[in-house]
Amino acid sequence: MLSVSNLSVQFGKRVLFDEVNISFTQGNCYGIIGANGAGKSTFLKILSGEVDPTSGQVHLEPGKRMSILEQDHNAYDEFGALETVVMGNRPLFAIKKEIDGLYADYSDENADKIGELQVRFEEMNGWNADSDAAALLSNLGIAEELHHTAMADIDPKLKVRVLLAQALFGSPDVLIMDEPTNDLDYDTISWLEHFLADYENTVIVVSHDRHFLDTICTHISDIDFGKMNLYSGNYTFWYQSSQLASRQRAQQNKKAEEKAKELQEFISRFSANVAKSKQATSRKKMLDKLKIEDIRPSSRRYPAIIFEREREAGDQILNIDGLAASSEDGDLLFSKVNINLSKGDKVAVISKDSRATSAFYEILNSKRRADQGSFQWGVTTNQSYLPSDNTNYFTSNDSLVDWLRQWAKTEEEREEVYIRGFLGKMLFRKSARFCQEGRKFVAC
Ligand SMILES: Nc1ncnc2c1ncn2[C@@H]1O[C@H](COP(=O)(O)OP(=O)(O)OP(=O)(O)O)[C@@H](O)[C@H]1O
Ligand SMILES: [Mg+2]
Repeated sequence: MLSVSNLSVQFGKRVLFDEVNISFTQGNCYGIIGANGAGKSTFLKILSGEVDPTSGQVHLEPGKRMSILEQDHNAYDEFGALETVVMGNRPLFAIKKEIDGLYADYSDENADKIGELQVRFEEMNGWNADSDAAALLSNLGIAEELHHTAMADIDPKLKVRVLLAQALFGSPDVLIMDEPTNDLDYDTISWLEHFLADYENTVIVVSHDRHFLDTICTHISDIDFGKMNLYSGNYTFWYQSSQLASRQRAQQNKKAEEKAKELQEFISRFSANVAKSKQATSRKKMLDKLKIEDIRPSSRRYPAIIFEREREAGDQILNIDGLAASSEDGDLLFSKVNINLSKGDKVAVISKDSRATSAFYEILNSKRRADQGSFQWGVTTNQSYLPSDNTNYFTSNDSLVDWLRQWAKTEEEREEVYIRGFLGKMLFRKSARFCQEGRKFVAC
């Protein structure tokens, strides 16, 4: 369906891809994973033709159509929602524009040309494009009154859904998505998981969301140190099997047949668990066909995120009593929230309205006041807070060491060696600074 051959990409001295060869076949769903900055978005842009590789080729089977959901959610701000969706079918949209242009400048000469284009337009089911696009938008929860609103004026959470509709429009043969679950709420992610798990064409998706990858993927491709390897199975299978293979590699004295037996047992156990799961789809059944050769160690390194408490907490962690909050416009966000958390509890806070979750966290972190109710943190606890909008933290172009030092509490933590060690555990390179990339700050 789609393949790349001898693909190399280099930005300045940095080699992102080195002689990558990979084929994507019909009906499979490929999860592309890799650390931040490994080159996942660049790879998708090369597949879609937006970026040219330094060398190598991309080959899409003739007559097949590819569509892409990009990581940049502001690219269509000047267009209306419905028009944005129709633009997802690029060949169809191009013909539509050409017909409109010829009509605007109508003459006997271009009448024939219009006739020809209209035949092609009809073959592509073009007359139904607007109604198909409207149905897709409505299925994704975009109210009809928003269908002709400019993308710039649509709430960012809804905007992602419009872009999703754009990517899905006209059932492309290859659907490419860059971090589709970012900014989506829980219900829409579930909808997308079901949709993609049953999608009959090829899907190539970049995501950092393991649950999402596990639900939809038949294959995982890991970008690491300029290479891309393709593995059968979903994310958990890739992770656990590559860890097992790495452990086996270290066990020099273990016999080859013992290792093979251990791998075979691992595959059987894993496949049985998947088959039992409620969501088992035809895609997941492919896991039955896994072979020992599919299992290879990965050279991937992981950040070590270690929570160390200053002191052992007591039993009482947090007590919330009748908490209520409203938005600035006076909409009720939540009320009568009563929660009592004890040691060891872990809670996920979800809401259809992200203003509600943000307000809840801001109140608990004394960034705003509740309309009603109260809360108390246990006297033995201390808290740390990562807000969803953290742009205010990154306004300077300090080195990471200087930036992190502002939170040091002790002399030891202020030391460069200590901070470097801390950053090293999170896999930051020695010379990392913050630099602006598009609308976000990244360590580079
Ligand atoms: N046009 C460009 N010129 C120079 N460097 C670039 C260009 N595009 C991307 N890069 C660099 O290439 C690297 C890979 O970027 P890319 O956006 O593909 O990473 P990614 O794997 O998608 O990361 P993330 O998980 O953060 O989205 C980054 O270091 C980025 O700064
Ligand atoms: Mg990216």
